[in-house]
Amino acid sequence: MQKKILITGGAGFVGSSLAIGIKKKYPQYSITCLDNLKRRGSELNLPRLDSLGIQFIHGDIRNREDLYSVENELTTIIEASAEPSVLAGINNSPDYIINTNLLGTVNCLHLAAKVKADFIFVSTSRIYPVEPNDQILFTEQDTRFVLSEQQEVKGVSGNGISEDFPIDGSRSFYGATKLCSEFLISEFNKFYSLPTVINRCGVITGPWQMGKTDQGVIVHWVAQHYWNKALSYFGYGGQGKQVRDILHVGDLFELIDFQLHHMDKVNGRVFNVGGGKEISVSLSELTAICEKITGNKIPITKVQEERQADIRIYISDNSRIKAATGWVPVTGVEETIRDIYQWIKTNELLLKPILTR
Ligand SMILES: NC(=O)c1ccc[n+]([C@@H]2O[C@H](COP(=O)([O-])OP(=O)(O)OC[C@H]3O[C@@H](n4cnc5c(N)ncnc54)[C@H](O)[C@@H]3O)[C@@H](O)[C@H]2O)c1
Repeated sequence: MQKKILITGGAGFVGSSLAIGIKKKYPQYSITCLDNLKRRGSELNLPRLDSLGIQFIHGDIRNREDLYSVENELTTIIEASAEPSVLAGINNSPDYIINTNLLGTVNCLHLAAKVKADFIFVSTSRIYPVEPNDQILFTEQDTRFVLSEQQEVKGVSGNGISEDFPIDGSRSFYGATKLCSEFLISEFNKFYSLPTVINRCGVITGPWQMGKTDQGVIVHWVAQHYWNKALSYFGYGGQGKQVRDILHVGDLFELIDFQLHHMDKVNGRVFNVGGGKEISVSLSELTAICEKITGNKIPITKVQEERQADIRIYISDNSRIKAATGWVPVTGVEETIRDIYQWIKTNELLLKPILTR
């Protein structure tokens, strides 16, 4: 079947990667990317979209007129626009993040309901609150914190954090706006029969992520090493032992490709999606990989206090998504870092002003 897809945030890292992945695999599909280009560096993706015949609309999801200017025979909306920083709204006004991540998503839902398009939502593991995360039991090893097999908090095990993890408590404006959107997506699914799926992604990374200090940490780490800058380990003893699973955007594409074509298998469902236990890394391990690949060793300051809304450890338990779809991530940590390194090396002049600011 011919698909007509709207990707919001389609000039961003995830949105453009999905658009390009889909267009390369299904050249006959019509793809429109809508983005307000708020994220610095997203403009670099416009020629990449254009060269493949992907339509671009410079528009804002906060504005229904922009959204409704998209042709109305859509089969699918992939909502990948956001203010994705965990720190947004904490030390400045939360207006933008609320208006985009919540009210903008509601606008996208109305459009999906109006044109009867499937709705694929890129949500985040940051919907889980900070306080129960602090209660996760762990052991401290040489280079990282490790989840204990036996846990007291529901929804966490040695395999990571499942969808049963508690959701009471605060988590950041970023996580809260995404969770509120998830709630409303469920209502549209139930009462308007809108086909929907929610993917709560852990850290996603890969080439074309415009990493900065507060978002896109993996690319930021590689870039700082590449250009011989400096970094800091914040909190948790200042040793860089905090751990995240990391998902290569190419692996995310494989999952979205499945959901695009098998909505019946995922409709109405919520999934944790990430690299999982096998594809996880601590900051100190990431430093060692970056040193090996770039050949550069840079100063890393140890800062005792934690960043606001930070967490010690997050690993996605992929059991539910695997059972529903068969999907598993395959790209290992070092392979992903090499991929990012090659991208920076190939596009050094273009990327330096963005990745070193
Ligand atoms: N990158 C990650 O590690 C990660 C992890 C989990 C979830 N996510 C989710 O994935 C999605 C994409 O994130 P990303 O990493 O590609 O970030 P990104 O900043 O690269 O992409 C987001 C895009 O949305 C655009 N945008 C912002 N406000 C907008 C608005 N009001 N109207 C239209 N466009 C707007 C930005 O210009 C940007 O191009 C987000 O929903 C984010 O919450 C990302």
